[in-house]
Amino acid sequence: MTDTPRLEIRNLVRSFSGRRVVDGVSLTVMPGQVTCLLGPSGCGKSTTLRMIAGIEKQDSGEIWVDGQLICDGTHRVPPEGRGIGLMFQDFALFPHLSVAGNVAYGLTGSARKARARVEELLQKVGMSAHIDAYPHELSGGEQQRVALARALAPRPRIMLMDEPFSGLDDRLRDDIRDETLDVLKAEGTAVLLVTHEPGEAMRMADEIALMRDGKIVQQGAPYNIYNAPVDKAAAAFFSDINVVPAKVKGALTDTAFGQFLVPGVADDTEVDIVIRPQHVKIDFDRAGKGPNPTALEGTPARGIVKRARFMGRESLVEFTLDDGTEMKAVIGSVFLPKPGTVLWLMIRRDKCFIFPRA
Ligand SMILES: Nc1ncnc2c1ncn2[C@@H]1O[C@H](COP(=O)(O)OP(=O)(O)OP(=O)(O)O)[C@@H](O)[C@H]1O
Ligand SMILES: [Mg+2]
Repeated sequence: MTDTPRLEIRNLVRSFSGRRVVDGVSLTVMPGQVTCLLGPSGCGKSTTLRMIAGIEKQDSGEIWVDGQLICDGTHRVPPEGRGIGLMFQDFALFPHLSVAGNVAYGLTGSARKARARVEELLQKVGMSAHIDAYPHELSGGEQQRVALARALAPRPRIMLMDEPFSGLDDRLRDDIRDETLDVLKAEGTAVLLVTHEPGEAMRMADEIALMRDGKIVQQGAPYNIYNAPVDKAAAAFFSDINVVPAKVKGALTDTAFGQFLVPGVADDTEVDIVIRPQHVKIDFDRAGKGPNPTALEGTPARGIVKRARFMGRESLVEFTLDDGTEMKAVIGSVFLPKPGTVLWLMIRRDKCFIFPRA
């Protein structure tokens, strides 16, 4: 193992008509690692990828591959010299070439070696049986696998993928995603994958770089990003959230769920206590009382069911608390209480995030 990142970008900036759409992006990807660039539409993901590929020029910033500077303000290695493979959503196979011809397209060297590489890759992506077929004879998912084989054939050190799975239906997408990941890992390629779907990012990524308004706001392993978001918007990007507003007095806040400790926060600061719906627990009303307070779940708060919806594996129940706060709870089974039902809500204190209100 080496400590040199396969890909490193430093402070990349790109403006269009005076607006910085990529605003100082830095990140590293190690060999064999998958980093997902995740963020809402228009936040600058594709522009970042295009600069790394060399098909868009940065205003400033540096791109390094295996410890070598390949692009800064003055020096520029052309796209074809960067050892970078591309796979975009609107990939197109060459219609007049067979599967074998498509995969061999970017290969140099002897025909025998090229053929061996083509066969090896088609086997890896499960397309050996279609080696002599033409693109129009293949399904969308099959074409996608051939496109992957074609992108991998010249052994790129880095693979840039921009929403490559978005044209596929759910089931097929899951399969192809997993197969793709296996092939990329086996080849030791560093992958930068753009997506706006948090589920896809969590499924595929070793690291997620969360992007917003041209900046990376948080980078880390999926588990850490999900469980320790930097702010309310980062929390909300991965699931519905509940927000319990509160005000600080003497390093404490009073809420319907009891007191929360907020050390080091000045008096009168407004904070939001954020909790995901799957960490809200519910219990029955016992003649106007809820369950006893516990250390983990604090004080229960009374809630009135506003709406309950069946969602397949789970149910989503919406409540209004006595103080007017709206709360959502995800219950992992079929539980559909009638609107108006009184229930008691508890929140997992170790799963709460507390952020100063913006
Ligand atoms: N060539 C261009 N000229 C002018 N504006 C551009 C150009 N390319 C991109 N932009 C703008 O830059 C912003 C970022 O675009 P980009 O394609 O990087 O977003 P994205 O994060 O990939 O979004 P999506 O998820 O919708 O693909 C957008 O507001 C877009 O309109
Ligand atoms: Mg895009």
